[in-house]
Amino acid sequence: MRKDVAVAPDRAPVPSTVMPPMPGDAAAEATRRRTFAIISHPDAGKTTLTEKFLLYGGALTAGAGTVKARGDRRAATSDWMALERQRGISITSTVLQFRYRGHVVNLLDTPGHRDFSEDTYRVLAAADAAVMVLDAAKGIEPQTLKLFEVCHARGVPLLTFVNKWDRPGREPLALLDEIEGRIGVTPTPVTWPVGPAGDFRGVVDRRTGEYVRFTRVARGATMAPEEVVDSERAAREEGTAWEVAAEELALLDEVGADHDSELFLGGESSPTFFGSALTNFGVRVLLDAVIDLAPAPSPRLDEAAKPRSLDAPFSGFVFKVQANMDPAHRDRIAFVRVCSGHFERGMVVTHAQTHRPFATKYAHSVFGQERETVEEAWPGDVVGLVNATEVRVGDTLYLEPHVAFPAIPSFAPEHFSVARPRDTGRFKQFRKGIAQLDEEGVVQVLRDPDLGDQAPILAAVGPMQFEVAAHRLEHEFGAPATLSPTAYTVARRTDEPSAPALRAMPGVAVYERADGSRYALFESRYWLDRVLADHDGLTLEPIVGAGLGG
Ligand code: G4P
Repeated sequence: MRKDVAVAPDRAPVPSTVMPPMPGDAAAEATRRRTFAIISHPDAGKTTLTEKFLLYGGALTAGAGTVKARGDRRAATSDWMALERQRGISITSTVLQFRYRGHVVNLLDTPGHRDFSEDTYRVLAAADAAVMVLDAAKGIEPQTLKLFEVCHARGVPLLTFVNKWDRPGREPLALLDEIEGRIGVTPTPVTWPVGPAGDFRGVVDRRTGEYVRFTRVARGATMAPEEVVDSERAAREEGTAWEVAAEELALLDEVGADHDSELFLGGESSPTFFGSALTNFGVRVLLDAVIDLAPAPSPRLDEAAKPRSLDAPFSGFVFKVQANMDPAHRDRIAFVRVCSGHFERGMVVTHAQTHRPFATKYAHSVFGQERETVEEAWPGDVVGLVNATEVRVGDTLYLEPHVAFPAIPSFAPEHFSVARPRDTGRFKQFRKGIAQLDEEGVVQVLRDPDLGDQAPILAAVGPMQFEVAAHRLEHEFGAPATLSPTAYTVARRTDEPSAPALRAMPGVAVYERADGSRYALFESRYWLDRVLADHDGLTLEPIVGAGLGG
């Protein structure tokens, strides 16, 4: 985040529509919280929409710079790496908190990588809903598909924002067909555009039938003025654009593509909105929908699938660990999503995995690069705990009674590279860096039990994670490394009894992870299928936990 971003000193300029709860009432605090992520294929407009949400939430002073230096990030990897060094917020996922209509909105930022990464998946584990941004001209893109699948598998309710309607794009009905056909989620348009893509006039809110006309403001720097226009005037003033919209709306009513809360919360349908983040058209109604439609934090299920009541004493789980966010301090922050109770800075909580006490003296909110000490937090909020060295992704922190939330499942890696330090004198740094990247989930680190840390295999969902790993090894840990591709393409989870037989086979290797689990690597799926067909009784399980890939 650039330093010129002005964080409004008082984040609550909007009138409250909800009475503030009594202190200690975690369930009531949860009711007025919305914790969600914005996800999209790169360039669809996630960053722009994030900025505009902050604008409407009063957390960005109008026109005061941007969430990140987009121009810098464009295309070239080297530029992107420059931004990685600057720690733009699209690279390091953080949480942006602001108030809107008396609610506390926690917007979890997901990385803007071109590849899908574990990191995104983990952020989604901490979100109660997601807004999927589509480019009106491009529709469903590869990354969109993958993210949709992940949300679907996790049952994350999705709102869809068809963005860039100010530019020529597809037919709105064709876009709906594409969403339904390719993703299997039923889009239920809440707003409908008046004017084709490229000639955007306003939207009809299908819930009320109201037509809201927008006016452009220079560079979209302030909120777009909105005017409610009755249908007679709209017919007169918008001409064909109105006629077309009216026909399409009649068609939608006929097929009954209406919002259904149950289907939405079950991840089966997605309320859909049309707009232009750049010109702020349709941003307010979308943000209103996050408040009105997206679910508030609800009791989270523990390992035994028992819900932890929102009013139970504090509990939370770590969904992200990020090292070296502040180059001046070289610290390590564990991001904890609060699941129950009241978090107060300084309280001593228990780390479920080690049963050790953990003092929360250094609790921060991280807004891009800006940090503020957090004094308290409620269910749905995210707290950054500084130098929580023993805490790992998926771990639980709590106040009695004991609770442990389920681990966040890993993804099946599809790319495998061997990492070697370029300078053997820097082996210690190399080892430390590799361990850190593994913990953060930048890559999964696989070790040959005979070689130890000499030449670990880095396994990733997408190849860009290797670039991130190599860059960070060199710049943060002072351990430049060579990453060489391997012939492996498929991994399966195996166990100790199966390992010797697998090791003896050509084209198969068995590696270990830091947690003691074992992966069998195969050069092709065909080879894996042959092994499965020819050898009964070997443990070879798909790695993923969420019904994807593998
Ligand atoms: P991302 O985070 O999903 O990768 O997308 P981002 O917001 O960075 O937007 C990608 C490009 O699309 C940017 O243009 C941005 O201005 C543009 N954009 C976003 N929303 C809209 C919209 O509603 N309408 C139009 N016409 N464009 C939109 P850029 O030229 O690549 O960057 P910049 O020079 O504008 O910063």
